[in-house]
Amino acid sequence: MAVVSKGLEGIVAAETRLGEVKGAEGILFYCGYDINELAGKVSYEEVVYLLFYQKLPNRAELEKLTTALRAERELPQGVIDYLLAAPKKAKPIDIMRTAVSMLGSYELNRHDVDVSENLATAIRLVSQIGVIAAYFHRARTGKELPPIRKDLSEAAHFLYLMTGEVPSKEAEKTLDVAYVLHAEHGFNASTFTARVVASTLSDMYSAISAAIGALKGPLHGGANEGVIHMLEEIGSPDKVDAWVEDALAQKKKIMGIGHRVYKVLDPRAPHLREMAIQLTAQLGEAKWIQMSERIAEIMRERKGLNANVDFYSATVYYSLDIPTDLFTPIFAIARMSGWTAHVLEQWSENRLFRPLSEYVGRPYGQKVVPIDER
Ligand SMILES: CC(C)(COP(=O)(O)OP(=O)(O)OC[C@H]1O[C@@H](n2cnc3c(N)ncnc32)[C@H](O)[C@@H]1OP(=O)(O)O)[C@@H](O)C(=O)NCCC(=O)NCCS
Repeated sequence: MAVVSKGLEGIVAAETRLGEVKGAEGILFYCGYDINELAGKVSYEEVVYLLFYQKLPNRAELEKLTTALRAERELPQGVIDYLLAAPKKAKPIDIMRTAVSMLGSYELNRHDVDVSENLATAIRLVSQIGVIAAYFHRARTGKELPPIRKDLSEAAHFLYLMTGEVPSKEAEKTLDVAYVLHAEHGFNASTFTARVVASTLSDMYSAISAAIGALKGPLHGGANEGVIHMLEEIGSPDKVDAWVEDALAQKKKIMGIGHRVYKVLDPRAPHLREMAIQLTAQLGEAKWIQMSERIAEIMRERKGLNANVDFYSATVYYSLDIPTDLFTPIFAIARMSGWTAHVLEQWSENRLFRPLSEYVGRPYGQKVVPIDER
């Protein structure tokens, strides 16, 4: 019998080998590895390998994937021209969505479902997505585009392109761990979007452009930008209580709080919280974490809701001196591995997604009244 589940809550839409979110226990794992086991122990590149091949790589396998990723960093000139010419005030996430779509027009033979070809496309997307974001940021701020380098990790290369300088080991490690924590998260809205598009046997670029569009929303990846806007609006720790009370009275959503699946703490949040505490202490900007901690405390007490991944990642990126409108793009950079792995998995056992809807409109059997008599 058909069931109606608004927002598809509780519905299992397909099987996956890539990851699971156990909401009641607060567990997230990728291919059997708990996120707490992975974070800090493996690099983002190892996670990309894990998601693509469902096993952790040995040294030779990692070297091969790393070389392949680094070999793909150059963007087609047409995409660079677009990044240079795009409106400077455009949202970087919109530019990324459009640039990914453009990239699809450079691969005329890949609009098929040959998994080996599409694996190459997945590697290219993981490699190029950060270049797109960083180059647009350079272009909009009137700075030259630093030449691509092949001797830097994914995280270090993104920070290098953003600033023109090789980042410190500490900054690289911080972003790398953030990438690891954001890489995969089951059938979240953007991953599900990618799989729905892929299920029509459309191409990888269409699936990923759609996923970026889904991620952008403030109820999904856009929340991390909302967190900083909120902290800026509150201004100082002494104003937190009144601000949150007022927001709750107005039935506003507090960004970075709550989750559809996690009923206990999001297991990614403590890692980002720890990094946020360290970074803000180093910068002498402890007020950001103080405000965050108080907001989280009030929301736990008042609504029984916990901080999610976006709550502390916002402060981490802020502390790395990354502009606020690049927070969601960074989420997209990290999630590219998860999205593309899901698209490959969808194609390996494809069935078109086609849910039903429950009709609640006018009764069936309406008659057309001539237009002049309506
Ligand atoms: C993530 C989110 C969309 C999940 O939503 P959901 O499962 O559809 O839950 P609902 O929006 O139906 O919320 C259920 C209840 O909790 C409240 N709630 C949930 N998140 C809240 C938040 N961030 N601030 C205030 N109240 C919140 C709702 O108001 C609702 O209360 P009510 O039953 O008294 O009306 C929601 O928690 C949210 O909007 N969070 C803020 C955005 C965010 O951080 N997104 C990133 C997710 S990783």
